[in-house]
Amino acid sequence: MQGMPQPAFYMFMCAVERPPQFPKPSCINAQNRDLFQYLGSKLMEKGIINTVVPVQTGCLNRCSQGPMMMVEPGHHVYTGLDKAKIDRIIDEHIIGGNVVSEYIIDEMAWGNAITPAEMQKMAGVR
Ligand code: FES
Repeated sequence: MQGMPQPAFYMFMCAVERPPQFPKPSCINAQNRDLFQYLGSKLMEKGIINTVVPVQTGCLNRCSQGPMMMVEPGHHVYTGLDKAKIDRIIDEHIIGGNVVSEYIIDEMAWGNAITPAEMQKMAGVR
């Protein structure tokens, strides 16, 4: 018996909006508050909302490069999002299977992950 299929993709979009006077930048502001709604409506329009799950998240810790979105699987992080970029990411990456590399975060800002076990050693917890 076939179980309920898992989603093919999750699209985690940062939803943090800090006050304008806050010293740290944030992904969302008065000009782009509709980006997440736009993402969801495009996934519906393309007929793929049941296998691609859009999720609003907290800060992804690369605030100066926002608006940010991480696509899983793959840990693919897109930066500087706008509606045109979302359109291309859906068409080329999500439907077409090709990451839109020109929108992917710079390697200098997204190096290899440190495993939790390594982090515990570095922190002197183990
Ligand atoms: S506020 Fe979006 S990455 Fe930090």
